[in-house]
Amino acid sequence: MGIETSCDETAVSVTEARGDNIKVLSNIISSQIKIHAQWGGVVPNLAAREHLKNIIPVLELALKKAGIKPSGVDLITVTQGPGLIPALLIGTNVAKTLAYVWKKPLLGIHHIEGHIYANLIQCEAKLRKNQKLSFEFPAICLVVSGGHTQLVLMKKHLDYEIVGETLDDAAGEAFDKVARILGLGYPGGPAIAAAADDRRPNAERRRKLQRESALSPREPALGLPRPMINSNNLNFSFSGLKTAVLYATYNLQPTTYNKRLLAKEFQQAIADVLISKTLKAAKIYHPKTIMLAGGVSANIELRNQLRNNLRRHYPDTTYKIPDTRYSTDNAAMIAAAGYWRWKNMTAIQRKKSFSNWKILQPDANLKLK
Ligand code: KG4
Ligand code: ZN
Repeated sequence: MGIETSCDETAVSVTEARGDNIKVLSNIISSQIKIHAQWGGVVPNLAAREHLKNIIPVLELALKKAGIKPSGVDLITVTQGPGLIPALLIGTNVAKTLAYVWKKPLLGIHHIEGHIYANLIQCEAKLRKNQKLSFEFPAICLVVSGGHTQLVLMKKHLDYEIVGETLDDAAGEAFDKVARILGLGYPGGPAIAAAADDRRPNAERRRKLQRESALSPREPALGLPRPMINSNNLNFSFSGLKTAVLYATYNLQPTTYNKRLLAKEFQQAIADVLISKTLKAAKIYHPKTIMLAGGVSANIELRNQLRNNLRRHYPDTTYKIPDTRYSTDNAAMIAAAGYWRWKNMTAIQRKKSFSNWKILQPDANLKLK
Protein backbone atom coordinates (compact mmCIF):
# COMPACT_ATOMS: atom_id res chain seq x y z
CA MET A 1 0.00 0.00 0.00
CA GLY A 2 1.22 3.49 -0.84
CA ILE A 3 0.17 6.74 0.86
CA GLU A 4 1.06 10.18 -0.55
CA THR A 5 0.19 13.58 0.98
CA SER A 6 3.28 15.70 0.29
CA CYS A 7 1.48 18.51 -1.53
CA ASP A 8 -2.10 18.94 -2.74
CA GLU A 9 -3.18 15.40 -3.63
CA THR A 10 -4.45 12.94 -1.03
CA ALA A 11 -3.59 9.58 -2.56
CA VAL A 12 -3.72 5.93 -1.54
CA SER A 13 -2.94 3.01 -3.78
CA VAL A 14 -2.80 -0.76 -3.49
CA THR A 15 -0.37 -2.52 -5.79
CA GLU A 16 0.48 -6.16 -6.32
CA ALA A 17 4.09 -6.99 -7.10
CA ARG A 18 5.77 -10.16 -8.26
CA GLY A 19 9.34 -10.28 -9.51
CA ASP A 20 9.79 -7.09 -11.55
CA ASN A 21 6.09 -6.72 -12.28
CA ILE A 22 4.16 -4.08 -10.33
CA LYS A 23 0.45 -4.06 -11.06
CA VAL A 24 -1.85 -1.34 -9.74
CA LEU A 25 -5.01 -2.70 -8.08
CA SER A 26 -6.29 0.71 -7.04
CA ASN A 27 -4.99 4.26 -7.36
CA ILE A 28 -7.27 6.76 -5.62
CA ILE A 29 -6.41 10.47 -5.79
CA SER A 30 -8.39 13.26 -4.21
CA SER A 31 -7.15 16.49 -5.74
CA GLN A 32 -7.34 19.86 -3.99
CA ILE A 33 -6.63 21.83 -7.16
CA LYS A 34 -9.92 23.76 -7.04
CA ILE A 35 -9.32 24.86 -3.45
CA HIS A 36 -5.79 26.16 -4.06
CA ALA A 37 -6.51 27.58 -7.54
CA GLN A 38 -8.14 30.68 -6.04
CA TRP A 39 -4.84 31.44 -4.24
CA GLY A 40 -2.72 30.75 -7.33
CA GLY A 41 -0.68 28.11 -5.46
CA VAL A 42 -0.79 25.59 -2.64
CA VAL A 43 -1.56 26.94 0.86
CA PRO A 44 0.09 24.46 3.29
CA ASN A 45 -2.39 24.64 6.17
CA LEU A 46 -5.38 24.44 3.85
CA ALA A 47 -3.77 21.39 2.24
CA ALA A 48 -3.34 19.72 5.65
CA ARG A 49 -7.00 20.30 6.54
CA GLU A 50 -8.12 18.76 3.23
CA HIS A 51 -5.78 15.76 3.67
CA LEU A 52 -7.21 15.20 7.15
CA LYS A 53 -10.75 15.33 5.80
CA ASN A 54 -10.12 13.06 2.83
CA ILE A 55 -7.50 10.52 3.78
CA ILE A 56 -9.71 7.95 5.52
CA PRO A 57 -12.39 7.91 2.76
CA VAL A 58 -9.59 7.67 0.16
CA LEU A 59 -7.98 4.81 2.10
CA GLU A 60 -11.30 2.99 2.43
CA LEU A 61 -11.98 3.35 -1.29
CA ALA A 62 -8.48 2.17 -2.26
CA LEU A 63 -8.89 -1.02 -0.22
CA LYS A 64 -12.41 -1.59 -1.53
CA LYS A 65 -11.45 -1.07 -5.16
CA ALA A 66 -8.48 -3.41 -4.80
CA GLY A 67 -10.69 -6.01 -3.10
CA ILE A 68 -8.19 -6.24 -0.25
CA LYS A 69 -8.74 -6.48 3.50
CA PRO A 70 -6.16 -5.03 5.92
CA SER A 71 -4.92 -8.58 6.58
CA GLY A 72 -4.03 -8.83 2.86
CA VAL A 73 -1.64 -5.85 2.99
CA ASP A 74 2.04 -6.93 3.21
CA LEU A 75 3.81 -3.57 3.37
CA ILE A 76 2.83 0.04 4.09
CA THR A 77 4.79 2.79 2.33
CA VAL A 78 4.38 6.53 2.75
CA THR A 79 5.96 9.70 1.38
CA GLN A 80 8.35 10.88 4.09
CA GLY A 81 9.51 14.01 2.21
CA PRO A 82 10.31 16.37 0.68
CA GLY A 83 7.11 18.38 0.75
CA LEU A 84 4.98 20.60 2.95
CA ILE A 85 5.31 19.60 6.60
CA PRO A 86 1.64 20.15 7.54
CA ALA A 87 0.67 17.97 4.59
CA LEU A 88 3.33 15.27 5.17
CA LEU A 89 2.32 14.99 8.83
CA ILE A 90 -1.15 13.75 7.90
CA GLY A 91 0.02 10.94 5.59
CA THR A 92 2.87 9.79 7.84
CA ASN A 93 0.66 9.76 10.92
CA VAL A 94 -2.00 7.70 9.18
CA ALA A 95 0.66 5.29 7.88
CA LYS A 96 2.23 4.93 11.34
CA THR A 97 -1.16 4.28 12.94
CA LEU A 98 -2.04 1.63 10.34
CA ALA A 99 1.37 -0.06 10.71
CA TYR A 100 0.88 -0.19 14.49
CA VAL A 101 -2.72 -1.39 14.46
CA TRP A 102 -2.32 -3.84 11.56
CA LYS A 103 1.15 -4.99 12.70
CA LYS A 104 2.74 -4.35 9.29
CA PRO A 105 6.20 -3.22 8.16
CA LEU A 106 6.42 0.49 7.30
CA LEU A 107 8.79 2.32 4.92
CA GLY A 108 9.19 6.08 4.47
CA ILE A 109 9.84 6.89 0.80
CA HIS A 110 11.47 9.88 -0.89
CA HIS A 111 8.87 11.55 -3.13
CA ILE A 112 11.27 11.78 -6.09
CA GLU A 113 12.23 8.12 -5.72
CA GLY A 114 8.53 7.47 -6.15
CA HIS A 115 8.43 9.55 -9.35
CA ILE A 116 11.43 7.61 -10.71
CA TYR A 117 9.95 4.18 -9.92
CA ALA A 118 6.65 5.20 -11.55
CA ASN A 119 8.53 4.15 -14.69
CA LEU A 120 8.39 0.53 -13.56
CA ILE A 121 4.62 0.33 -13.05
CA GLN A 122 2.85 -2.02 -15.43
CA CYS A 123 0.30 -0.36 -17.76
CA GLU A 124 -1.48 -1.15 -21.03
CA ALA A 125 0.99 0.86 -23.17
CA LYS A 126 4.01 -0.96 -21.70
CA LEU A 127 2.24 -4.33 -22.14
CA ARG A 128 1.36 -3.48 -25.75
CA LYS A 129 4.93 -2.50 -26.57
CA ASN A 130 6.24 -5.49 -24.63
CA GLN A 131 8.47 -3.11 -22.65
CA LYS A 132 10.71 -4.57 -19.99
CA LEU A 133 9.79 -3.48 -16.47
CA SER A 134 13.34 -2.90 -15.33
CA PHE A 135 16.10 -0.33 -15.59
CA GLU A 136 19.36 -1.06 -17.32
CA PHE A 137 22.23 0.77 -15.66
CA PRO A 138 23.74 3.26 -15.79
CA ALA A 139 20.52 5.24 -16.13
CA ILE A 140 19.93 8.98 -16.44
CA CYS A 141 16.69 10.35 -15.11
CA LEU A 142 15.38 13.81 -15.93
CA VAL A 143 13.26 14.71 -12.90
CA VAL A 144 10.90 17.59 -13.64
CA SER A 145 8.21 18.46 -11.12
CA GLY A 146 6.75 21.44 -9.31
CA GLY A 147 9.58 21.48 -6.78
CA HIS A 148 12.47 19.74 -8.58
CA THR A 149 14.45 19.88 -11.81
CA GLN A 150 17.34 17.49 -11.65
CA LEU A 151 19.40 15.16 -13.76
CA VAL A 152 19.96 12.04 -11.69
CA LEU A 153 22.54 9.38 -12.46
CA MET A 154 21.68 5.86 -11.24
CA LYS A 155 24.43 3.24 -11.35
CA LYS A 156 22.20 0.65 -9.66
CA HIS A 157 18.77 0.41 -8.07
CA LEU A 158 18.02 2.92 -5.28
CA ASP A 159 21.33 4.70 -5.84
CA TYR A 160 21.25 8.34 -6.90
CA GLU A 161 23.80 10.97 -7.83
CA ILE A 162 22.47 14.40 -8.73
CA VAL A 163 24.63 15.52 -11.67
CA GLY A 164 22.66 18.66 -12.54
CA GLU A 165 19.88 20.75 -11.04
CA THR A 166 18.10 24.06 -11.22
CA LEU A 167 19.76 27.05 -9.64
CA ASP A 168 16.42 28.79 -9.08
CA ASP A 169 12.89 27.82 -10.22
CA ALA A 170 11.89 24.25 -11.02
CA ALA A 171 10.44 23.57 -14.49
CA GLY A 172 6.93 22.95 -13.11
CA GLU A 173 7.15 26.08 -11.00
CA ALA A 174 8.04 28.06 -14.15
CA PHE A 175 4.99 26.59 -15.93
CA ASP A 176 2.80 27.58 -12.97
CA LYS A 177 4.18 31.13 -12.72
CA VAL A 178 4.01 31.78 -16.48
CA ALA A 179 0.42 30.49 -16.56
CA ARG A 180 -0.38 33.00 -13.84
CA ILE A 181 1.26 35.82 -15.86
CA LEU A 182 -0.81 34.82 -18.91
CA GLY A 183 -4.00 34.39 -16.85
CA LEU A 184 -4.33 30.75 -17.88
CA GLY A 185 -5.11 29.29 -14.45
CA TYR A 186 -3.63 26.75 -12.03
CA PRO A 187 -1.92 24.32 -12.30
CA GLY A 188 -0.01 25.97 -15.08
CA GLY A 189 1.52 22.95 -16.83
CA PRO A 190 -1.66 21.47 -18.30
CA ALA A 191 -3.06 24.99 -18.95
CA ILE A 192 0.02 26.06 -20.95
CA ALA A 193 0.17 22.73 -22.79
CA ALA A 194 -3.48 23.13 -23.81
CA ALA A 195 -3.02 26.77 -24.89
CA ALA A 196 0.08 25.84 -26.89
CA ASP A 197 -1.61 22.92 -28.62
CA ASP A 198 -2.70 24.17 -32.03
CA ARG A 199 -2.95 20.76 -33.68
CA ARG A 200 -6.70 20.35 -33.57
CA PRO A 201 -8.53 23.55 -32.73
CA ASN A 202 -12.25 23.10 -33.29
CA ALA A 203 -13.88 25.16 -36.05
CA GLU A 204 -15.22 27.92 -33.80
CA ARG A 205 -11.91 28.31 -32.00
CA ARG A 206 -10.04 28.33 -35.32
CA ARG A 207 -12.27 31.14 -36.71
CA LYS A 208 -11.75 33.17 -33.52
CA LEU A 209 -7.99 32.72 -33.73
CA GLN A 210 -7.96 33.67 -37.40
CA ARG A 211 -9.93 36.85 -36.62
CA GLU A 212 -7.46 37.69 -33.89
CA SER A 213 -4.41 36.85 -35.94
CA ALA A 214 -5.73 39.22 -38.60
CA LEU A 215 -5.37 41.91 -35.96
CA SER A 216 -1.74 41.01 -35.50
CA PRO A 217 -0.73 40.39 -39.10
CA ARG A 218 2.93 39.84 -38.37
CA GLU A 219 3.82 37.19 -35.84
CA PRO A 220 5.70 39.07 -33.14
CA ALA A 221 9.25 37.89 -32.69
CA LEU A 222 9.17 36.73 -29.10
CA GLY A 223 12.79 35.66 -28.85
CA LEU A 224 12.46 33.97 -25.46
CA PRO A 225 15.85 32.89 -24.07
CA ARG A 226 17.01 29.29 -23.55
CA PRO A 227 18.78 29.91 -20.23
CA MET A 228 22.08 28.10 -19.65
CA ILE A 229 21.64 25.98 -22.77
CA ASN A 230 25.28 26.52 -23.71
CA SER A 231 26.71 26.46 -20.21
CA ASN A 232 29.44 23.96 -19.56
CA ASN A 233 27.50 21.99 -16.94
CA LEU A 234 24.22 20.14 -16.41
CA ASN A 235 22.48 22.82 -14.35
CA PHE A 236 19.32 24.74 -15.22
CA SER A 237 17.84 28.16 -14.54
CA PHE A 238 14.25 29.11 -15.35
CA SER A 239 13.52 32.27 -13.43
CA GLY A 240 14.92 34.57 -16.18
CA LEU A 241 12.72 32.82 -18.74
CA LYS A 242 9.66 33.55 -16.60
CA THR A 243 10.68 37.24 -16.42
CA ALA A 244 11.23 37.31 -20.19
CA VAL A 245 7.63 36.14 -20.67
CA LEU A 246 6.45 38.89 -18.34
CA TYR A 247 8.37 41.54 -20.35
CA ALA A 248 7.05 40.10 -23.64
CA THR A 249 3.48 40.63 -22.41
CA TYR A 250 4.18 44.38 -22.04
CA ASN A 251 4.60 44.67 -25.82
CA LEU A 252 1.70 42.49 -26.89
CA GLN A 253 -2.07 42.87 -26.91
CA PRO A 254 -3.52 40.39 -24.37
CA THR A 255 -5.42 38.47 -27.06
CA THR A 256 -5.97 34.70 -27.00
CA TYR A 257 -3.82 34.49 -30.10
CA ASN A 258 -0.86 36.22 -28.46
CA LYS A 259 -1.24 34.25 -25.25
CA ARG A 260 -1.16 31.03 -27.27
CA LEU A 261 1.97 32.20 -29.11
CA LEU A 262 3.68 32.97 -25.82
CA ALA A 263 2.56 29.69 -24.22
CA LYS A 264 3.88 27.74 -27.20
CA GLU A 265 7.20 29.57 -27.32
CA PHE A 266 7.65 29.26 -23.55
CA GLN A 267 6.90 25.52 -23.61
CA GLN A 268 9.39 25.11 -26.46
CA ALA A 269 12.06 27.08 -24.60
CA ILE A 270 11.68 24.79 -21.57
CA ALA A 271 11.73 21.66 -23.74
CA ASP A 272 14.81 22.87 -25.66
CA VAL A 273 16.81 23.37 -22.47
CA LEU A 274 15.67 20.14 -20.79
CA ILE A 275 16.40 18.08 -23.90
CA SER A 276 19.75 19.71 -24.60
CA LYS A 277 20.98 19.06 -21.04
CA THR A 278 19.72 15.47 -21.10
CA LEU A 279 21.65 14.87 -24.34
CA LYS A 280 24.70 16.45 -22.73
CA ALA A 281 24.34 14.08 -19.76
CA ALA A 282 24.03 11.14 -22.18
CA LYS A 283 27.26 12.16 -23.86
CA ILE A 284 29.09 12.22 -20.53
CA TYR A 285 27.64 9.14 -18.79
CA HIS A 286 26.74 6.77 -21.69
CA PRO A 287 23.51 5.58 -20.04
CA LYS A 288 21.68 2.43 -21.14
CA THR A 289 18.38 3.91 -19.95
CA ILE A 290 17.14 7.50 -20.14
CA MET A 291 13.90 8.32 -18.40
CA LEU A 292 11.55 11.11 -17.49
CA ALA A 293 9.93 11.54 -14.08
CA GLY A 294 7.76 14.06 -12.20
CA GLY A 295 4.63 16.04 -13.02
CA VAL A 296 6.11 17.86 -16.05
CA SER A 297 6.77 14.43 -17.63
CA ALA A 298 3.03 14.53 -18.47
CA ASN A 299 3.87 17.18 -21.07
CA ILE A 300 3.27 15.60 -24.49
CA GLU A 301 5.68 17.88 -26.37
CA LEU A 302 8.50 17.13 -23.93
CA ARG A 303 7.80 13.38 -24.06
CA ASN A 304 7.72 13.31 -27.88
CA GLN A 305 10.56 15.71 -28.59
CA LEU A 306 12.89 13.95 -26.14
CA ARG A 307 11.97 10.61 -27.73
CA ASN A 308 12.72 11.95 -31.25
CA ASN A 309 16.06 13.39 -30.15
CA LEU A 310 17.13 10.19 -28.43
CA ARG A 311 16.14 8.12 -31.46
CA ARG A 312 18.33 10.33 -33.60
CA HIS A 313 21.37 10.67 -31.31
CA TYR A 314 21.23 7.62 -28.99
CA PRO A 315 19.19 4.94 -30.80
CA ASP A 316 20.54 2.14 -28.58
CA THR A 317 19.43 3.75 -25.35
CA THR A 318 16.13 2.63 -23.84
CA TYR A 319 13.74 5.54 -23.30
CA LYS A 320 11.29 5.24 -20.44
CA ILE A 321 8.38 7.51 -19.60
CA PRO A 322 5.77 6.93 -16.92
CA ASP A 323 2.18 6.32 -17.96
CA THR A 324 0.58 9.80 -17.70
CA ARG A 325 -1.63 8.52 -14.82
CA TYR A 326 1.57 8.04 -12.82
CA SER A 327 3.37 11.22 -13.98
CA THR A 328 1.76 13.66 -11.57
CA ASP A 329 1.49 12.95 -7.84
CA ASN A 330 -0.04 9.59 -6.96
CA ALA A 331 0.47 6.86 -4.38
CA ALA A 332 1.07 3.92 -6.75
CA MET A 333 4.55 5.35 -7.42
CA ILE A 334 5.27 5.42 -3.66
CA ALA A 335 4.20 1.78 -3.37
CA ALA A 336 6.36 0.91 -6.41
CA ALA A 337 9.48 2.54 -4.92
CA GLY A 338 8.67 0.93 -1.56
CA TYR A 339 8.46 -2.48 -3.20
CA TRP A 340 11.93 -2.04 -4.75
CA ARG A 341 13.32 -0.94 -1.39
CA TRP A 342 11.77 -4.01 0.28
CA LYS A 343 13.17 -6.27 -2.47
CA ASN A 344 16.67 -5.00 -1.67
CA MET A 345 16.45 -5.28 2.12
CA THR A 346 18.06 -7.95 4.27
CA ALA A 347 15.94 -10.14 6.58
CA ILE A 348 17.15 -8.10 9.57
CA GLN A 349 16.24 -4.79 7.90
CA ARG A 350 12.80 -6.18 7.04
CA LYS A 351 12.24 -7.28 10.63
CA LYS A 352 13.24 -3.84 11.90
CA SER A 353 10.76 -2.12 9.59
CA PHE A 354 7.93 -3.60 11.71
CA SER A 355 8.95 -1.07 14.40
CA ASN A 356 9.19 1.92 12.06
CA TRP A 357 5.82 3.19 13.33
CA LYS A 358 7.72 4.25 16.45
CA ILE A 359 10.35 6.38 14.72
CA LEU A 360 9.26 7.55 11.26
CA GLN A 361 9.30 11.37 10.99
CA PRO A 362 8.38 13.48 7.97
CA ASP A 363 11.22 15.59 6.59
CA ALA A 364 10.40 18.64 4.43
CA ASN A 365 13.95 18.67 3.01
CA LEU A 366 14.62 14.95 2.75
CA LYS A 367 17.60 14.32 0.44
CA LEU A 368 17.64 11.74 -2.34
CA LYS A 369 20.41 9.29 -1.44
O1 KG4 B 1 5.14 15.92 -9.58
P1 KG4 B 1 4.03 16.88 -9.43
O2 KG4 B 1 2.63 16.37 -9.61
O3 KG4 B 1 4.11 17.55 -8.02
C1 KG4 B 1 5.33 17.88 -7.45
O4 KG4 B 1 6.01 16.94 -6.95
O5 KG4 B 1 5.70 19.07 -7.53
O6 KG4 B 1 4.32 18.06 -10.44
C2 KG4 B 1 3.45 19.14 -10.50
C3 KG4 B 1 3.95 20.08 -11.58
C4 KG4 B 1 3.16 21.37 -11.61
O7 KG4 B 1 4.08 22.45 -11.63
C5 KG4 B 1 2.39 21.27 -12.91
O8 KG4 B 1 2.15 22.53 -13.51
C6 KG4 B 1 3.30 20.40 -13.75
O9 KG4 B 1 3.82 19.46 -12.85
N1 KG4 B 1 2.58 19.72 -14.84
C7 KG4 B 1 2.85 19.92 -16.14
C8 KG4 B 1 1.90 19.15 -16.87
N2 KG4 B 1 1.11 18.49 -15.96
C9 KG4 B 1 1.55 18.85 -14.73
N3 KG4 B 1 3.77 20.69 -16.75
C10 KG4 B 1 3.79 20.71 -18.09
N4 KG4 B 1 2.91 20.03 -18.86
C11 KG4 B 1 1.96 19.23 -18.30
N5 KG4 B 1 1.10 18.55 -19.06
ZN1 ZN C 1 5.60 15.09 -7.31
